[in-house]
Amino acid sequence: MVSSGGRVLFRAASKLLPRPSWSRGCVWCQCRSISVKPGGLKPKTVPARYLGQPSPFTHPHLLKCGEVTPGLSQTEYELRRHRLASLIEAQSDRLGPPASSSTHVLIVLSHPTRYMTNDIPYPFHQNQDFLYLCGILEPDSALVLYGKGRPDKTILFVPRRDPGRELWDGPRSGKDGAAALTGIERVHSTEELGVVLKSIKGSTLWYDSSNPSHSRLHQAHVSPLLEAGAMPRPLRPLIHSLRALKSSSEVALMHEAGRITAQAFRRTMTLSLGDVDESLLFAKFDFENRLHGANFLAYPPVVAGGNRANTLHYINNNQMIKDGEMVLLDGGCEYFGYVSDVTRTWPVNGKFSTAQAELYEAVLEVQLSCLSLCSPGVSLDHIYSTMLALLGRQLKRLGIVKAGTSDADVLKAARRYCPHHVGHYLGMDVHDTPELSRSQPLQPGMTITIEPGLYIGEENEQAPERFRGIGIRIEDDVLIRDKGGPLILSADAPKTISDVELACAQR
Ligand code: GLY
Ligand code: MN
Ligand code: MN
Repeated sequence: MVSSGGRVLFRAASKLLPRPSWSRGCVWCQCRSISVKPGGLKPKTVPARYLGQPSPFTHPHLLKCGEVTPGLSQTEYELRRHRLASLIEAQSDRLGPPASSSTHVLIVLSHPTRYMTNDIPYPFHQNQDFLYLCGILEPDSALVLYGKGRPDKTILFVPRRDPGRELWDGPRSGKDGAAALTGIERVHSTEELGVVLKSIKGSTLWYDSSNPSHSRLHQAHVSPLLEAGAMPRPLRPLIHSLRALKSSSEVALMHEAGRITAQAFRRTMTLSLGDVDESLLFAKFDFENRLHGANFLAYPPVVAGGNRANTLHYINNNQMIKDGEMVLLDGGCEYFGYVSDVTRTWPVNGKFSTAQAELYEAVLEVQLSCLSLCSPGVSLDHIYSTMLALLGRQLKRLGIVKAGTSDADVLKAARRYCPHHVGHYLGMDVHDTPELSRSQPLQPGMTITIEPGLYIGEENEQAPERFRGIGIRIEDDVLIRDKGGPLILSADAPKTISDVELACAQR
């Protein structure tokens, strides 16, 4: 993905331009280039209309020929399905016959449309496991993989074209559009899911039945299989193990998400002139992310002034921050399916007080030490233990914990002053791939956050008075690499005291 300004301007401008008259001919999207589908098959032409999502035909400024979603090609999605099939094959080999020779059937459902109020939908957000395997952004869809020994055949299900519904909800891809966009040759209407499933004589079902992502499709099409005695094996842990390792295309998308959010922090800091409403900083941060290419914010951000920074999930963002107080802003964006998650804490008048600077430097020092540990073979849990030890040392140094306190009690205090983990996996979701244990060694290609903090409530009578009412977290997004150390995807967000003060002074 191309970065920053140029691309943004190009994208904004290309929204306004009519399609050029030469844009006919390519088998995929009717541009001029010649494309050959992997495997040599003749690809289907993407219909010359808006599908249920951007396509190379309607959004040539975002998608190249052969891409299903921006930056991710048909080949990449096919490879993901291929890897999943290999995992299933390897698992059933381990189980021995009859599992190794049985027909495997994998089912992944999309999300449904969710409603904010009567008839009015929330903006649709796809089930990431489904999106990961096929790139379809429409609700009420499903993916089935099946095959004897190895589930290497794919069937996609999408909502059928329906002028009555499309009048209200907008165009749908339909079978032809979805087939051409994804390169999946066998596409059915979703209403055929149950019948098709019954026709596959499967013996091993892989499906997440405990918490189905689409309860109506589950009830109508999958429940009958379960009622007939199928005992599904969980699929989510396998998909998450694949999602945890990012390809170079995924890293490019995450890097762009990190860059966009870092710029948004830089520009939000320019509003540091004294008293400010949290809602104003929220609006500015949201605006700057979207202006620079984000699709939307990845989660409701925390914009917490003063003592509210000590409420970890504060999202009301509706109070005045006073001159002399700090703001903790934890926010991130979604960029074509991949997210950022960054926190910075800064004084709203643009100048750190002595106490704020003391506490900030303590957290920063710990964060930098934790970042330096981000390498293959080390686990998030190990970095967490180190974070607690380092925070404990800082608490003692700052006089928040008394000299002479036992090591065990210092660690207890560190847990009290920082009640959350050092970080989590990051990717398509903020708290990504929760099936993956944080005790497992990090591998090259994994992306994580590192986010130590110290939270000292104003009611805390044990801490020195000057620190009370201050909560500080510093969070960056990190790619684990084989060589060259960790890559900080959010490195452009001001972080040292001098860089933060400089950013606050910009107008
Ligand atoms: N924004 C949620 C987190 O930092 O984990
Ligand atoms: Mn965060
Ligand atoms: Mn986080």
